Amino acid sequence: MRTGLILSAALASWAVANPLSSPLSKRAAIDDCLKAANVPVDAPNSNDWKLDVNPFNQRLKYTPVAIAAPTTVQHVQAAVSCAAKVGVKVNPKSGGHSYASFGLGGENGHFVVQLDRMNSVSYNSATQIATVGAGARLGRIATALYRDGKRAFSHGTCPGVGVAGHSLHGGFGFSSHTHGLAVDWIVGATVVLANATVVETSETENPEIFWALRGAGSNFGIVTTFKFKTFAAPSQVTAFQVNLPWNSASAIVSGWSALQDWLKAGMPKEMNGRVFGGPSQTQLQGLYHGSSAQLRTAIQPLLTKLGASLSNAQQYDWMGAFSYYTYGQQVDVSRPYNLVETFYSKSLVTPALPNSVLQNVANYWMQKAKSTNRDWFIIIDLYGGANSAITKVPNNATSYPYRDSNNHLFLYEFYDRVNFGSYPSNGFSFLDGWVKTFTDGLTASQWGMYINYADPTMDRNTAQDVYFRQNLPRLQKLKTQLDPTELFYYPQAISPAK
Ligand SMILES: Cc1cc2nc3c(=O)[nH]c(=O)nc-3n(C[C@H](O)[C@H](O)[C@H](O)COP(=O)(O)OP(=O)(O)OC[C@H]3O[C@@H](n4cnc5c(N)ncnc54)[C@H](O)[C@@H]3O)c2cc1C
Ligand SMILES: *[C@@H]1O[C@H](CO)[C@@H](O)[C@H](O)[C@H]1NC(C)=O
Ligand SMILES: *[C@@H]1O[C@H](CO)[C@@H](O)[C@H](O)[C@H]1NC(C)=O
Repeated sequence: MRTGLILSAALASWAVANPLSSPLSKRAAIDDCLKAANVPVDAPNSNDWKLDVNPFNQRLKYTPVAIAAPTTVQHVQAAVSCAAKVGVKVNPKSGGHSYASFGLGGENGHFVVQLDRMNSVSYNSATQIATVGAGARLGRIATALYRDGKRAFSHGTCPGVGVAGHSLHGGFGFSSHTHGLAVDWIVGATVVLANATVVETSETENPEIFWALRGAGSNFGIVTTFKFKTFAAPSQVTAFQVNLPWNSASAIVSGWSALQDWLKAGMPKEMNGRVFGGPSQTQLQGLYHGSSAQLRTAIQPLLTKLGASLSNAQQYDWMGAFSYYTYGQQVDVSRPYNLVETFYSKSLVTPALPNSVLQNVANYWMQKAKSTNRDWFIIIDLYGGANSAITKVPNNATSYPYRDSNNHLFLYEFYDRVNFGSYPSNGFSFLDGWVKTFTDGLTASQWGMYINYADPTMDRNTAQDVYFRQNLPRLQKLKTQLDPTELFYYPQAISPAK
C-alpha cells in the first residue's frame, strides 16, 4: 500500500513535468477523449479489461494505456482520432493470437482497439460474397458460411484465430494448396486510416491501399469489415495421417527429399498437408478435398517413395473435417475466449532444400531437438510447387511476398512452449540454432519469414526485411504517405521511407 502511494506520487510529479508524455497523463487524456466521443471502453481492471489484456502468448504480457471496445465504424474512427490527438500509438486487436502480442502493441503503453465485439458474419447467395466483421474468429466464420450457403474460403485450422490478423498477413491452412491463402479471398475491406477517415478498398477503390493491406495490413489502418469471395465447400473431405519413420538423420534426409520432389513436381491440387514433428512422433497430416478412395489413389505415388502407408484416412463433410483438426476445441467461438500458451516461435519460407542443408537440418533434429526435454514442434507446410494455388497469384498482386513456385516450396513453424512457469531466458538458442541450419545454406533471396508467426527477438530493420522482402520499398513508401507519424506502430512495424 505504502509503496504504491509513493510510486504513484512519483509518477504524478513526473507527469506534471512531462505533459502528455507519461503513461498516467496519456491515460487520463485518452480516457477523456474517448469519453467525450462516446467510445465504449474496458474499465481498467474490469473483467473485460482482464480478458482483453491477456495475450495468447503468455510470454509477452503488456499493459496498454487504454482499451477501446468499439461496436461501430464510428467508434473506431473516434478512437483513432483520440490516439492521434493524445499522441499515443494505437493497435487494433482482433483474435489476439499474434505470437509477439502485437495486438497489444508489442510493448507497454499503447492504446488497444479491441475488435472482437465486431464479429458478425453474413453471406449473400446472389454475389457469393461474405461480409465479415474484423473481430470474428475463424471457427465462427467457417460455421456461418457453411450453414448459410455450404460455402467457405481458405484459412488456418485454429478456430480462435482472428480473421483480421490472420487474413491481412497471409493465412495458410488445409485449403491453401487447392485454393490459396486467406489473403487471396479478400475482395474488399473497409478501413479506418491514420487520419481517421474511413475508406473502401478493393481492386478498383483505393487499389494501392488494398494492395498493402493484403500482406501488411497492421501497418496501414484498422480494417472494420472484410468482403471475402467464397468457394463451394466440397461435400467429401478426407483427413489423413501417415506416420513417418524419421528416426535417424538419414531417414529424415531421404524422406524429406522424396516429399519435396513430389511437391515441387506437382502434388495433386486437391491435396493439402504438412509434416508435424514433435518429441515422440513425426507425421504427414492433411486434408484431401475429395473422397477417401480418391485420396488413396492420389497419395499412393508418394507413399511408394516414402516406403510408408496411410495410418488413418477418414472421410467427413466440410465442417467435420474442420473439426477434426481442432482437436476438441469449440469451433463456433467468439467472446469470451481464454485459450493461452507460453512459448517462443520462429518461422521460415524456403525453396526445396539442397542435400547439404537437409543434412544439417536433420542432424540438428536428431542431435538437439530429440535430446531436449522441451515441448517443441516443427510444422513443415506443403506450401508451393507446380500445382499450388498460392504461387499462381502474381508476385506483386498483393504485398504478401511469397509467390514464387520455385523458391517458396515450404512454410515452417518452429514452436517451443513451456507448460508450467515462465519461458527460460536461455531458451531461445534452441530454435534460433535450428533455423540457422536452414538459412546458413541458402542465400537471403531464397528464404523469408512469416509475420503471422512473428519472432519479436529480431530488430526492426531485420524483421521488416525478412517479412516483406522485395515488397518492402513499396510498403515503406505508402507508409510515408498514409501514416508518417507512425500512429500504427509496433516494434517490428514497417517504417516510413527515408
Ligand atoms: C493457436 C494458433 C493457431 C494458428 N494457426 C495458424 C494457421 O493454421 N495458419 C496460419 O497461417 N497462421 C496461424 N496462426 C497464426 C495467426 O494467423 C496469427 O497469429 C494472426 O496474426 C492472428 O490474428 P489475430 O487477429 O488473432 O491476432 P491479433 O493479435 O489480434 O492481431 C495480429 C496483428 O494484426 C493486427 N490487426 C488485428 N486486427 C486488425 C485489423 N482489424 N486491421 C488491421 N490490423 C489488425 C494487430 O494489430 C497485430 O499486429 C495461428 C496462431 C495461433 C495462436
Ligand atoms: C486521409 O487520408 C487519405 C489517404 O491519404 C486521403 O485520401 C484523405 O483525403 C485524408 N482525409 C483527410 C480528412 O485528411
Ligand atoms: C504488377 O506488375 C505488372 C507488370 O510489371 C504491372 O503491369 C501491374 O500493374 C502490377 N500490379 C500491381 C497490383 O502492382
